[in-house]
Amino acid sequence: MDMTTSLVDHSFRKDVRRCFEQQTYAIPARWLYDRRGSELFEEITELPEYYPTRTETQLLKANGPAFAASVGPNRAVIEFGSGSSVKTPHLLKAIDPAAYVPIDISGEFLEHSASLLQAEFPDLPIYPVEADFMKRVALPEAVADMPKLGFFPGSTIGNMIARTSVDLLRFMRETLGEGAQLLIGIDRIKDIQTLIDAYDDAAGVTAQFSLNLLHRINRELDGDIPCDKFRHVAVWNDLYARVEIYLEAQADVRFSIDGHVHEMVQGQKIHIENSHKYGLRDARLMLRAGGWTPLHEWSDEQDHFTLMLVEAHPLKYAP
Ligand code: TRP
Repeated sequence: MDMTTSLVDHSFRKDVRRCFEQQTYAIPARWLYDRRGSELFEEITELPEYYPTRTETQLLKANGPAFAASVGPNRAVIEFGSGSSVKTPHLLKAIDPAAYVPIDISGEFLEHSASLLQAEFPDLPIYPVEADFMKRVALPEAVADMPKLGFFPGSTIGNMIARTSVDLLRFMRETLGEGAQLLIGIDRIKDIQTLIDAYDDAAGVTAQFSLNLLHRINRELDGDIPCDKFRHVAVWNDLYARVEIYLEAQADVRFSIDGHVHEMVQGQKIHIENSHKYGLRDARLMLRAGGWTPLHEWSDEQDHFTLMLVEAHPLKYAP
């Protein structure tokens, strides 16, 4: 086992312990994405009910000329949490960038997707950076003097609580510098059934994705959780404007993890994810709180999803 794996295992164990021993009954969503979880998430993005990926990709494809007009050529595109970079080509084709810097926490993934992208854009300098984008990131020297465009697609910002999302936006501003632009994906508030269906599909793929977390605990932390006694639940919390995802015990259960015995009663839930949704004004206020001034917005016809272009203007200390 290499260092990275044992470090990751250690924090996974710590987070799972906190859930059951300190009885927080919450596990950070990042642990959903092991190999099996990542495969299942790919499947989710193709479900008829899961509109975000499809809608955002269509927006990226349809608005190339408008991006080019607002962004201009010769920027270094910095992508936060680039993953497989599947949405990136649409943007790169549209705006004639000077360089591309994918930032991701998984180095292996990063090299692979960077080399695929390099094949598609042979003349584009690509500088992958392995880093945690939730903090300030040191960018490669080569792009230091280039004007910058941050790119943060997906609805990842929606998975953060308000203060974390504002912290992230401020870090991005520090990373990119004053004068930079940022193109960010924002998932909109819409009718509740559409939202719930996106997180609880008819084929049950999302349920499998959630339940995989319990299987992962059993696999990696020597657990014997009776996974079939839990069910995936998605609920809309209107006060927080978010879909909340839980795993709910369907019976009184008793199980052990790492040799420690735990009990849960019927109806008790483990909180595993939040997905916040935004009105346009909510999103603009969040972005301004993070130091970003709204410039342009592109939405689909149904207003299900919006791409916002914002800019880091000099800070004003008087009205
Ligand atoms: N970032 C995705 C989202 O909020 C993640 C996601 C989709 C998810 N479906 C899920 C997380 C179900 C947990 C459970 O849309």
